[in-house]
Amino acid sequence: MAKPSAKTSARIAYVCGECGAEYSKWQGQCGECSAWNSLSQVVLEPAASAASPAASRRGGWAGKVDPPKVTALKDVSQLAEVRVSTGIGELDRVLGGGLVEGAVVLVGGDPGIGKSTLLLQALATMSAQLPALYVTGEESLAQVAGRAVRLDLPLDNLQALAETGIESILQHASQAKPRVVVADSVQTLWSETLTAAPGSVSQVRESAARLVRYAKETGTAVFLVGHVTKEGGIAGPRVLEHMVDAVLYFEGESGSRFRVLRAFKNRFGAVNELGVFAMGDKGLKEVPNPSAIFLSGSARQPGSCVMVTREGTRPLLVEVQALVDSSPLSNPRRVAVGLEQNRLAMLLAVLHRHGGVVVGDQDVFVNVVGGIRVQETAADLPVLLAVLSSLRDRALADKTVAFGEVGLSGEIRPVPNGEERLREAATHGFRRAIVPKANAPKSGSFKGLEVIAVERLAQALDAAAD
Ligand code: TYD
Ligand code: MG
Repeated sequence: MAKPSAKTSARIAYVCGECGAEYSKWQGQCGECSAWNSLSQVVLEPAASAASPAASRRGGWAGKVDPPKVTALKDVSQLAEVRVSTGIGELDRVLGGGLVEGAVVLVGGDPGIGKSTLLLQALATMSAQLPALYVTGEESLAQVAGRAVRLDLPLDNLQALAETGIESILQHASQAKPRVVVADSVQTLWSETLTAAPGSVSQVRESAARLVRYAKETGTAVFLVGHVTKEGGIAGPRVLEHMVDAVLYFEGESGSRFRVLRAFKNRFGAVNELGVFAMGDKGLKEVPNPSAIFLSGSARQPGSCVMVTREGTRPLLVEVQALVDSSPLSNPRRVAVGLEQNRLAMLLAVLHRHGGVVVGDQDVFVNVVGGIRVQETAADLPVLLAVLSSLRDRALADKTVAFGEVGLSGEIRPVPNGEERLREAATHGFRRAIVPKANAPKSGSFKGLEVIAVERLAQALDAAAD
């Protein structure tokens, strides 16, 4: 009897649950992301043998394989991108203008943040126009139905399946032929071809890969729900990001009813696009004008500065607060919530060196109101103005906004889409804007907004003190 060749037997690999790096041998620390004990064993499927259907279609064996065709890219016919509205405007916005046929979208977030609620609402609305299937591996059908009824969702055409075996899910799907599927959650799925336990990296990877293949072959749109685990990644965790077309993360502070859905990766739209929702007794409601909710609304207090940030394609007014207090510690604390910690430390050094403001003996806490995360550098100047305002215990002038990047040599650098930011501030009744010189209109004002153009940090600090 012929011995099975190495090619046809399963191969064992070790995959990092944090970053997805793959190794042939186990090792204690991942060489890519330096995480300890993050590798788990994965059984890779055997490489396609000569007898596999795909190989025989191609001519069976190496000598006879049709050469792959090289085509000039301009001759390739383009597929029209068919988009369907999910019925939820903010979700459509984050997806880049609706759900694309055959797209696989991973929706991640902490347990209990509202992933199942949002997708059930979207799927029920879509089921009025398209065949839709909700696969639940976490809740019973009765629980899902109960929630849908409580939320008054249209249920007549929504199919549901309580199942976790991927083979059986795909079999049901091939009969029901839905156009859109929700798999809640990907951590509960498992394949009988693998011996690993459900929830393990290899099971989650394999199940997701099967769903991706199904989506691409049939043009069905698939939402995968993934819980962010304690370490901060999805499902053993970021191993799925490269497989899917879009990754959306749900963010929100515990205790706050506002939820922000952010596009982290999107092959069909802008990344960092934000959708804002409020969780209420009737599920998630969209907040179409989110600028208002990120302002605390109270009279201006010392330590507060409103900034115009632009996440994705929309400008947003967001309040940043700072508390500066003398520290009992030899190594004072620098804490940033909603901003990058290292950037805060860097900005404080610039404030000292180029603004002459000493905060070395002070604890500095900075928080972005409303549980939103701000990732762009336009937040630099507002952060420093808030810090200075808290240190001096003097509020900024009423109705003031700011934006601008602060460079290491104390220069205030321009940020993209300055005019759009100024327009958003003017629309919301702001009167004064401290902005980088290159972002300021020549006339010195913009729709009733007095624009103070600054080139250096010292100038900005003076303007804020007026
Ligand atoms: P859920 O969608 O189950 O979260 P996930 O799927 O991300 O784990 O959301 C559950 C939370 O939302 C739960 O704490 C209750 C709350 N909730 C409301 O406040 N109102 C509602 O109408 C619903 C359906 C849930
Ligand atoms: Mg859930």
